[in-house]
Amino acid sequence: MSNIPNLYLKQIELGPMNNYIYIIGNSESREVMIVDPAWEPEHLKTILKNENLSIKGLLITHGHPDHCNGVSGILDSYDVPVYVSKAEASFYKPIGENIKNVLPGDILSLGNINIECIHTPGHTPGSQCFKVGENLISGDTLFLDGCGRCDLPGGNVEDLYKSLYNIILKLPFSTTLYPGHNYHHLKKDTLENQSETNGYLQCSNMHEFVHTRMKR
Ligand SMILES: [Fe+2]
Repeated sequence: MSNIPNLYLKQIELGPMNNYIYIIGNSESREVMIVDPAWEPEHLKTILKNENLSIKGLLITHGHPDHCNGVSGILDSYDVPVYVSKAEASFYKPIGENIKNVLPGDILSLGNINIECIHTPGHTPGSQCFKVGENLISGDTLFLDGCGRCDLPGGNVEDLYKSLYNIILKLPFSTTLYPGHNYHHLKKDTLENQSETNGYLQCSNMHEFVHTRMKR
């Protein structure tokens, strides 16, 4: 799972919508952050305690409720920052003094574990992926053999095309993708494999992508 010796990365499926929540951090210092803490915050707290993990923050891929409806439940026990894209739509963004805006390219560090915030608008204005080494937590921007819908408020299919083709497909093909939902028999896959099997990554131009994405 790791191309960094002391990377901690745990994938947990929770809730009625097959969401993946991730705990990511440093396996030596035990410092971690939780990506998209939606659903069953008490279960997540139990994992933190059982694995002797010290939570340093929450990372939000985007503001849809199924990705952040457990934030307040975590904050009830831990007073930590909640990192959300500055660009996220106001009607999606969680509120409160713990919310910290992040910008494209911002890096959050837990010792030598560097978590890069990559702004990938389209599914929502402030959708972002989190890159650690050659691992990409892709939220609802990119699924295994799928991608996020663009027909919800704040969605923009042309922005999603640019995010997928100008940003994600420019990453090393050895990158491992960790999606925001379990919509596939695989839990993760390489960008190389997805470039060959995911029809949303095989469009020859924006027009074809818009047609492909919006017809489904
Ligand atoms: Fe979403």
